[in-house]
Amino acid sequence: MRKLGIDVGYGFTKAAAETEGDISRHASFASAVIAARNSDLSTLSGGQVKHLLSIEDMASGRSEYAIGSAALALGADRAWANGVRTGYLPLVIAAALAVGASGQLEVALGLPLGVYLKKDERARLRAAVEGVNVWASLDKAEARQFSIGRVRVYPQGYGAYLSALSSFPALSGQFVGLIDVGYRTTEYLLFSPTDGVSIPDEKRSGSLDVGVSMALDAVRSYVAQEVGAAYSPPTSLIEEAVARGVITVRGREVHVSEAWNSAGAMLAEQVLDAIHRAWGERMDFLAALLLAGGGGEVLARHLPEAQVLPRPVYANAEGFLMRARAQDPTHAPAST
Ligand SMILES: Nc1ncnc2c1ncn2[C@@H]1O[C@H](COP(=O)(O)OP(=O)(O)O)[C@@H](O)[C@H]1O
Ligand SMILES: [Mg+2]
Repeated sequence: MRKLGIDVGYGFTKAAAETEGDISRHASFASAVIAARNSDLSTLSGGQVKHLLSIEDMASGRSEYAIGSAALALGADRAWANGVRTGYLPLVIAAALAVGASGQLEVALGLPLGVYLKKDERARLRAAVEGVNVWASLDKAEARQFSIGRVRVYPQGYGAYLSALSSFPALSGQFVGLIDVGYRTTEYLLFSPTDGVSIPDEKRSGSLDVGVSMALDAVRSYVAQEVGAAYSPPTSLIEEAVARGVITVRGREVHVSEAWNSAGAMLAEQVLDAIHRAWGERMDFLAALLLAGGGGEVLARHLPEAQVLPRPVYANAEGFLMRARAQDPTHAPAST
């Protein structure tokens, strides 16, 4: 049974798979799905198919979808934007294919904390994936058979915590704060000591409606203001501008590093405010304040007391995978 950790975020779907006992295969793509055909994508990519997913099952026959950036280019919204039930399974299967998995799978899935806490929704998403038996292929590659056995569902952030414990085992049994800075939301979790381990304190954990996309929007507004126009370039262009520090609009160079920096500072301020309110005097007893998610690095510049986890984007997916492996007697640590 092949084990996978899959973290379906508001922004990106991340996967980690074990390869001969090591956690070594990763994949990430935008969490977006739209029904599409090969011909739709060919017009987009000049004949070169990218991210076309085909799923075939006995009951409903064959369905084709564009996934990730291809779906966004065809006008799809990000998953979760308008409910997720149709898009969820294709994202999970695409993630499995992207890390080269097939056959019998056991999946540990991450959900945004807000989704996870709605028990009905959590159960529905699990049911949509568990027991699935299909043939699927990505980008015209040979179809592979998938049968998904046991599915475990966890809140995002929890996976990152588990992967942190593998790097810093001494954190177990201490107060630990974890901030997972995602695309649209930022989840904060407090882990409190109980009987020698630390467990998530649900009352003091939550989700904020701020994330990397908000910081990118601030840069977009800044650029529009500088060029004096209703200028609304796609997010991918803004991301590129942030990476380079400059964007050229109508022949004019606009430098964006300062705007990006102050957007990051604003994000940090909002997050700090929220955790101070939620954690109170426990802030003083934290053994570590950990940062994960694609926005972890952005926040780190403004929170010198915090520590970014290794491979922060994949921290959740890796942690879920570790969790799935720990359930397996061949991988279980001696103490469990
Ligand atoms: N595959 C990717 N390609 C480009 N950027 C990415 C990718 N995955 C994550 N990121 C960066 O990390 C940010 C937050 O992503 P992530 O932590 O995956 O969010 P979420 O968990 O909310 O989906 C993105 O806005 C982007 O800047
Ligand atoms: Mg996330």
